[in-house]
Amino acid sequence: MPVITEIEDLRRKYKWRVPKMFYDYCESGSWTEQTFRENTADFKDIHLRQRVAIDMTGRSTKTQMIGQDVAMPVALAPVGSTGMQHADGEIKAAKAAEKFGVPYCLSTMSICSIEDVAANTEKPFWLQVYTLTDDDFMQRLFDRAKEAKCSAAVITVDLQLLGQRHKDLKNGLSAPPKLTPKTLADMAWRVPWGLEMLQTKRRFFGNIVGHAKGVGDAASLMDWTHNNFDQALNWDRIREFRKMWDGPLIIKGIIDPRDALEACNVGADAIVVSNHGGRQLDGALSSIRALGPIMDAVGDKIEVHLDSGIRSGQDVLKAVAMGAKGCWIGRAYVYGLGAMGEQGVTKALEVIHKELDMSMALCGHTDINTVDRDILMVPKGFSGDWE
Ligand code: GLV
Repeated sequence: MPVITEIEDLRRKYKWRVPKMFYDYCESGSWTEQTFRENTADFKDIHLRQRVAIDMTGRSTKTQMIGQDVAMPVALAPVGSTGMQHADGEIKAAKAAEKFGVPYCLSTMSICSIEDVAANTEKPFWLQVYTLTDDDFMQRLFDRAKEAKCSAAVITVDLQLLGQRHKDLKNGLSAPPKLTPKTLADMAWRVPWGLEMLQTKRRFFGNIVGHAKGVGDAASLMDWTHNNFDQALNWDRIREFRKMWDGPLIIKGIIDPRDALEACNVGADAIVVSNHGGRQLDGALSSIRALGPIMDAVGDKIEVHLDSGIRSGQDVLKAVAMGAKGCWIGRAYVYGLGAMGEQGVTKALEVIHKELDMSMALCGHTDINTVDRDILMVPKGFSGDWE
């Protein structure tokens, strides 16, 4: 087995193991993928300030996210169809996260259901919800999260409609995959993936089918999804969701300081600066460029997290130094899951932790909680001087 030293090693392995339609689903941005690319590329413009002759023994990356203890400031982001990347993928990712001591956030569009993940894990996880028009379904989701002892709900506010991802349309993406000559040919030589998939019953959207009124099969699910994402969403509607859930609440998908201010007024415990991994508005600013102005606007009012573009522990360090209390990783752990199942998610977390810990030390810090802007060299105008 090749030695895995970086997240990119996992991506290469993942690409070989998983059918193209699911690899492409993960590895896509919308339209030209400009924002998808810039999310990672923009981190490279920030440099780290190396310090020497500072005692670097006794280091710790332990901190808190929304008041919960974490082994490092990283959470596993909600990713739709994770159970198609590897059989029982959500359960495997959640297990890896709990063993490592970081939060796992389950997507509403997961293959394994809330109840399934709860039954197969020990520690509470977070549940992500979309902003849907179906009130009964929304209330039921929050109730199911409560019954499953979820320790936070995460409302994704940047998906009133789905950004167009060319590859998904061309591949005819669906879960489970439609059996056409093209998909059959693609799956035929992903033997370990296929054998594992045949051994699980979890191959459909477990939180939706049988829970949303009238959704019993793939065709009705497509109709339901199409009709239920709320294009008329506004902040009053988000306040209604706040009333449906009385636990810790995180609002995910903020990229503009004005929206960050609105999110503060809803009574959330944290916001996630995110452009949905470049999957929604192509041409939007990368998350790391958006972070500074959002910190200036709300950093003293609410806990701020960042997702979109994190592929290394150095990226985490940079975001934390700019003020983020934690970062969410999506693709970075899906690569690991697709490549090696639970063990691969653990590997992704280990890689990120090691990079974070060593880079922090070389910047002269032994405690992630003392890291600040001083360790960074950020180019002038990094966040933009826009007209
Ligand atoms: C869903 O949230 C997606 O980005 O595909």
